[in-house]
Amino acid sequence: MSQFKTVRGMRDFLPKDAEKIRYVEKIARELAHLYGYEEVITPVVEHYDLLSAKSGEEIRERMYAFSDMGGRRVALRPEFTASIARLIATKMRNAPKPMKLFCAGSLYRYDEPQYGRFREFWQANYELMGSSEPEADMEILTLTNDLIGRLGLRRYWFKIGHMGILRGILSQEGVAEGQQNLIMQLLDKKRWDEALTLARESNVSQNCIATLKKILETKGKDASQVLKTAKRVVADYDDAVAAVENLREILELTAEGNVKFETLVETGFARGFEYYTGIIFELYVPEIEIALGGGGRYDKLIELFGGEPTPAVGVAPGIDRLVLAMDKQKVSLKISEESKVMIIPVDEKLRTKAVELSLTLRKAKIPVEVELMGRKVSKALSDADRRGATHAVIVGPEELKEGKVVLRDMKKREQRPVEIKTLSKEILKDTS
Ligand code: HAM
Repeated sequence: MSQFKTVRGMRDFLPKDAEKIRYVEKIARELAHLYGYEEVITPVVEHYDLLSAKSGEEIRERMYAFSDMGGRRVALRPEFTASIARLIATKMRNAPKPMKLFCAGSLYRYDEPQYGRFREFWQANYELMGSSEPEADMEILTLTNDLIGRLGLRRYWFKIGHMGILRGILSQEGVAEGQQNLIMQLLDKKRWDEALTLARESNVSQNCIATLKKILETKGKDASQVLKTAKRVVADYDDAVAAVENLREILELTAEGNVKFETLVETGFARGFEYYTGIIFELYVPEIEIALGGGGRYDKLIELFGGEPTPAVGVAPGIDRLVLAMDKQKVSLKISEESKVMIIPVDEKLRTKAVELSLTLRKAKIPVEVELMGRKVSKALSDADRRGATHAVIVGPEELKEGKVVLRDMKKREQRPVEIKTLSKEILKDTS
């Protein structure tokens, strides 16, 4: 019966998978704290016009858009950046600069489901607003690199470009922004020939086509070499030269700051969102073809939403794909070994005592479960084993008379009577 299956593109996360998603989210949140990014929570449902304003054609087409019962045109958020820009343009317009915000949660795109591509997925998202300095771009790169390191991924690289290069060339040639967006969409999909055809149809000069062709070919791992070539190629286009310079400065700062990561600089690289104005980047691992994260600078979006002119840069690591990469690179979750206790009353009369004990242990922050199936001790013990309990506490009438219970170490398969007063200490001592 199809109504008992998840909707195409939607997934259930059973405990092991949910644990992985939450683990990455937890590390991402800890990192936000370490870099001074405060968490905000924005709604899943936003006005369609807000989300679509600069999302780019592809996202626009794939939004879960509908009219709510009040007749409002709304959509499920396909990303966080528009919502954060809305916050900065409205409720946080007087916040002291720089504003650094973190959020994490689920997003929705009607993408074709395939490996690493889902219709509901998770992102961690960091936005740094108010600074146009290259240090801000550097911080976003540094933070992304830091996250990958903390998750234990070993092989990865950043693909890096700058929207100002292509836009600089096209703007100087008088190509209207709408037409530029179409060209960028094609480049984003690696449909280079069609992008060049569209540029030709926009009445650009021969020199422009020749420059674009060379720019699309200018790429490599040695950033300074690539950018030297790029500067020569775009020499006739002032804004494009400035963009190359800006990228050089950001990458130099990053290297000087001793932040080490592999880069692939591609001057013809474009991303789907139309709001990007500066550096753009994506994160890759060799085992997976699609990007694990993406980001860039967007200096005009907050203004477009009615806010003060506010330069901004941000990144969204995709939690689902980070989990996939960790699986591929066989990285295990660094979850600290904690104790897990099962309390087993030997007979019905002691059930309430078991509950009382569980509350005491939980006060000491020990995870505790109480046997709930009315099973005999031996059955309950094998169930505790199956559930990964480190200890069992057996509550029996004889021991209770002396203010004691039996504490069983599940791994060593040893047990001893322990005073209830010292029970939590004894358990913690075993696992510390
Ligand atoms: P994005 O490149 O569209 O950028 O998404 C960032 C990451 O979200 C991707 O690299 C990927 O890991 C994940 N992602 C996207 N679509 C899917 C999907 N269908 N299934 C699974 N994972 C997916 C943004 O969203 C921008 N808002 C990033 C940004 C923040 N730019 C500036 N600030």
